Amino acid sequence: MDTMILTGSVYGFAEDIARVIESQLIRARCAVQIVNDPDPVRCVLRADELPLFIVSTTGNGDIPKPFKPFVLAVASGSIGTLPQHYALIALGDSAFTDFCGAGRKLEAALVARGMQQLHDKLEFDASTDIDYEDVATDWTNEILVPSLI
Ligand SMILES: Cc1cc2nc3c(=O)[nH]c(=O)nc-3n(C[C@H](O)[C@H](O)[C@H](O)COP(=O)(O)O)c2cc1C
Repeated sequence: MDTMILTGSVYGFAEDIARVIESQLIRARCAVQIVNDPDPVRCVLRADELPLFIVSTTGNGDIPKPFKPFVLAVASGSIGTLPQHYALIALGDSAFTDFCGAGRKLEAALVARGMQQLHDKLEFDASTDIDYEDVATDWTNEILVPSLI
């Protein structure tokens, strides 16, 4: 299965993680493309492609502004056909009350449209000193790649 990585970011960390995962997928000879801030009109999610969402949280549990139209389009049904499965990496900071709130809002919209998560959601907490690029690399190689081939 091919992977489409869709990012919603304010400060660029989600895009950094997307590039880490992309390079691991290419190394594993899996087809991948990155779409930053997907346009809900032009972005087509194919049935034979896994959408991997990497979404940070801003404001008070808010979805990054450029990514909001896509989430609203999923929720309203204006994105017609959706694949059966999705994967999600939610970025946040546990110092905020609504930890990874944007990821949870996106997840609720996807599940309401009948999509199922292929893997447990990953939550990256900026308040820790964990190297999340390493976490993303290991997750890609140990969990994501085996599920695609
Ligand atoms: C102004 C601001 C507001 C934020 N609000 C939240 C929040 O409500 N909940 C949360 O979990 N993280 C929040 N964060 C943390 C970011 O989601 C986290 O740092 C993330 O890694 C940023 O990823 P990005 O660079 O892709 O935007 C906030 C960060 C900033 C700077």
